[in-house]
Amino acid sequence: MSFLGDMRVLYSLAFASKRGKTHAERLEKFYGAQAGDYDDFRRRLLKGRRELFRSIPGPKGGTWIDMGGGTGSNLENLGGRIKSLKSATVVDLSPSLLSVAQRRFKDHGWRNVYAVEADATTYQPPEPVDVVTFSYSLTMIPDWFAAIDHARTMLKPGGTIGVVDFYVARKHPSENRKRHPYAARVFWPAWFSIDNVVPSPDHLPYLQRRFECASVSEHRGKIPYLFGLKAPYYQFLGKKVQ
Ligand SMILES: C[S@@+](CC[C@H](N)C(=O)[O-])C[C@H]1O[C@@H](n2cnc3c(N)ncnc32)[C@H](O)[C@@H]1O
Repeated sequence: MSFLGDMRVLYSLAFASKRGKTHAERLEKFYGAQAGDYDDFRRRLLKGRRELFRSIPGPKGGTWIDMGGGTGSNLENLGGRIKSLKSATVVDLSPSLLSVAQRRFKDHGWRNVYAVEADATTYQPPEPVDVVTFSYSLTMIPDWFAAIDHARTMLKPGGTIGVVDFYVARKHPSENRKRHPYAARVFWPAWFSIDNVVPSPDHLPYLQRRFECASVSEHRGKIPYLFGLKAPYYQFLGKKVQ
């Protein structure tokens, strides 16, 4: 952990311009200045990624796409399993984060892992895939409906989707889902919106509608430098059934 790195990231989060004509331009403005410090800070901010990626069975000879995969750090959670995949592909719209990913893949000597600059709502894989993951990316994708629908289209029948992300509960959540107080339902969307992150009450219900639920869990995680505050996040694993 580097204090100076943290300060650079906090400056970007709070003050850097996130403006641009397109979604891709806005993302690159935001991430360009902090790509080098991204992993260290996000390790403490983006909770539940390691558990989710470790829990997904990567089928031998299978294909895995990490949508909005940024620097590709999540793939390290696959450990030795990564070599038994046919391919793993990180799809992202930020060239700065993808260049960190490319360096990482080269350092690991992974020859079956790719970094592709493309939009998660339209990227076309060469063949249907076994696993699609979204790690804290759905909340940054404006047309997240399209991203989820597109993931379903890309998956083979029986394929797995894994999602971990911030969210807020609906005012009247369905049975078995957690309730969040009014203050949390108002504060977190307002706070995250500074960085074009949209924690939604609808992501999880829509995932449950589109996929057969294999497991779902809801948690709260500490935010660096927001002492005492914990942001709600969920982990979802689903299967594509016809
Ligand atoms: C909070 S970061 C998470 C990155 C990574 N998944 C992780 O866990 O560290 C959100 C990522 O989503 C990417 N992203 C946002 N919208 C996207 C889109 N429409 N298509 C592809 N990537 C997108 C951003 O560039 C960024 O890398």
